[in-house]
Amino acid sequence: MSLSSLNIVNFRNLENIHFDFNQYNIFYGRNGSGKTSILEAIYYLALGRSFRSHLLRRITKYGADSFSLFGKIQQKNNYISAGVERSIVTGKHIRVAGEDAHSHIEITKLLPLQLLNQDSYRLLDDGPKVRRQFMDWGLFHVEQTFLTLWRKVERILEQRNAALRTNSKIDHIKTWDAELAQLGFELHNHRKQYVGSFIPIAKRILQKLLPDISINISYFAGWDAEQELALVLANNLKNDLHLGYTMTGPQRADLQITIDKVPAKDALSRGQQKLLLYGLQISQGMLLNELTGKNCIYLVDDLQAELDSQKQSLLAENLLSLPSQVFVTGLTYEDLERLFISKNPKMFHVEQGNITL
Ligand SMILES: Nc1ncnc2c1ncn2[C@@H]1O[C@H](COP(=O)(O)OP(=O)(O)OP(=O)(O)O)[C@@H](O)[C@H]1O
Ligand SMILES: [Mg+2]
Repeated sequence: MSLSSLNIVNFRNLENIHFDFNQYNIFYGRNGSGKTSILEAIYYLALGRSFRSHLLRRITKYGADSFSLFGKIQQKNNYISAGVERSIVTGKHIRVAGEDAHSHIEITKLLPLQLLNQDSYRLLDDGPKVRRQFMDWGLFHVEQTFLTLWRKVERILEQRNAALRTNSKIDHIKTWDAELAQLGFELHNHRKQYVGSFIPIAKRILQKLLPDISINISYFAGWDAEQELALVLANNLKNDLHLGYTMTGPQRADLQITIDKVPAKDALSRGQQKLLLYGLQISQGMLLNELTGKNCIYLVDDLQAELDSQKQSLLAENLLSLPSQVFVTGLTYEDLERLFISKNPKMFHVEQGNITL
């Protein structure tokens, strides 16, 4: 799938713009011209939220009280319209294929998307939650039933944790354990299988991007997976009661990324980390395509930052090897065009919220 056109009204400094996109789309222009805002608009259309602010006022154009984003999504030879309007006065309104939609997930499913920007470093810098989200992104797009399963596990955990916090009777706490153990194990199996398919692809891509570094990726279930989760929960009950939350289970799963047992964030330079992260995100798109035939959209904000020109080319080559649609931002025409020239990219000049081709 790809985004063939997009209409943006009153989003950040973009007042009223229509885009017709190609497979490779490049936005160049000065600082503050609106390049990231265009990626933010595509991201918002796909996910129903921004990667820069939770506040509607911040993303709506100053002086306006609503914004809207309408896109046309191409799925093989089919076109599906999808749009969202957010108003400070009248709330949220989502449309898919000409009908009102109840949840943004309907659009999210149509537009699998990977954002490559400064936030990508969080995968290495932050705690396990970001890495669980990274794994679960793939499962959400691959497994129809995954979201329901994930939500069930979250709900049981909430209830069990509430019971732990309020010092409920042991028997009451234990009522959650059988279901948590069963569904938690199911969730773990999905993740284990997905990561098992992901690692060989990631290794191949990382070998190209960082040939001199041996990167180890391993999956941690959230408990010693050699043992039954039910048993682990029972054995840890005293500890859980003391802490007031459930210490073991799929809610603690992680993807550990190391070089000679040292966490990648401590072992690699900033540029090397960027290549590693982008390599992992490119691998996600490859696996998605392999497993489902779907194509993921890539938003790459400031591709050139922190990379020397040889590494920029290497990254661009790898992005070009995907069957995906790619949106890239940067400062100058020449450098960006050079990187993508073999695929005849569409170049958009962004100037104070306006576009010239
Ligand atoms: N709600 C808003 N309404 C209008 N303008 C806004 C709003 N929020 C931010 N802006 C302005 O929009 C402009 C575009 O910001 P954006 O981050 O998209 O620029 P950019 O082209 O990515 O710049 P850089 O090259 O520095 O990353 C900025 O000048 C910013 O001050
Ligand atoms: Mg920017």
